[in-house]
Amino acid sequence: NRYALIMAGGVGSRFWPVSRTEFPKQFIDFFGVGKTLIQSTYDRFLQICLPENIFIVTNESYVDLIKEQLPQLGENQILAEPMMRNTAPCIAYGSSKIAELNPDAVIVVAPSDHTIANQAAFINAIETSMEVAAQTDCLITLGIKPNRPDTGYGYIQYTDEVLVGNSEVHKVKTFTEKPNLELAKSFLQSGDFLWNAGIFIWSASAINRALQRHLPDMHEIFTGGRTVYNTDNEKAFIANAYQLCTNISIDFGIMEKADNVFVLPSDFGWSDLGTWASIYEMAEKDYVGNAVIPSEQVMMYDSSNCMVNVPKEKLVILQGMHDYIVVEENNTLLICKRAEEQNVKNIVADVKAKF
Ligand code: GDD
Ligand code: MG
Repeated sequence: NRYALIMAGGVGSRFWPVSRTEFPKQFIDFFGVGKTLIQSTYDRFLQICLPENIFIVTNESYVDLIKEQLPQLGENQILAEPMMRNTAPCIAYGSSKIAELNPDAVIVVAPSDHTIANQAAFINAIETSMEVAAQTDCLITLGIKPNRPDTGYGYIQYTDEVLVGNSEVHKVKTFTEKPNLELAKSFLQSGDFLWNAGIFIWSASAINRALQRHLPDMHEIFTGGRTVYNTDNEKAFIANAYQLCTNISIDFGIMEKADNVFVLPSDFGWSDLGTWASIYEMAEKDYVGNAVIPSEQVMMYDSSNCMVNVPKEKLVILQGMHDYIVVEENNTLLICKRAEEQNVKNIVADVKAKF
């Protein structure tokens, strides 16, 4: 009764020009390993669930990309959303569908666009959490030790209280989604906070109860008076449901409010890959610190600590370049100082206005 729900509807704008609205980061092979982030995510869950128990929730506009990258998925395993309403509706849809197939399901909900370096530790953490979730009403999240006051994450304050029979899963005291910098700094200093990895484990009944309690309107939309989903009806039902849903993340909608949240402190080389710097950090580098993807046609002379990510047929030569990002996609070439990556945001706005 183990199920996985992979969320793949986000639009990635930070990895411009490689990741764009038409092609968000989950569909990209950032590390040149022959697998995109969503393919790697799917493969990880194959170690945990039966193939027919893995579901993907995505925007209608990405369904073709999913079919292309994961041709092994059955038609009913791709749940298409007619519009972006953030992660709470995505989870309400997916979990109500899974509950209908199997009311005793235990579900792991995960983003499609993260990297995990230590697969064995990851699988271990999910299996531990699933065992606990099968026996309790808990909403479990995986917590990562923070190393900087990043305001892009949820912060989890945990207590010493552990579940009976399991000493690893801790009761959560507070959950603060995307705090401001000042708050994030104080969380980091206090030492009893973890980052929310955005990976949740719960039983179908626990998430159903949480939705009913904290997002009752949304709960009603997806479960109230509905007949069995089938391919035809489902589309019309979902089109209507999404019209009615508010736009809210699971973090704001449920995790901040619920009092039955638990956390499993985890360490499996997790990265949300928010920036080129984070790709650089995770990527394999040569002895002078260059991460070059793919490496066949890139020649480096007196260059170090550069992140290069270009189409594989492109011949690229770097001479005397240190600490640069060089990325190309769709005939758009970006060269910028690695430390000044944050400026690209503004540049993208200019480019969009001009072209
Ligand atoms: N299907 C679907 N529909 N998926 C979505 C939608 C949607 O409307 N919006 C986002 N997603 C997917 C994204 O593709 C991603 O895989 C995942 O859901 C999480 O969304 P993000 O937009 O990336 O969230 P975040 O990174 O800002 O914050 C979340 O993750 C952090 C860790 O990476 C939160 O859970 C934070 O608390 C957490 O720290
Ligand atoms: Mg994210």
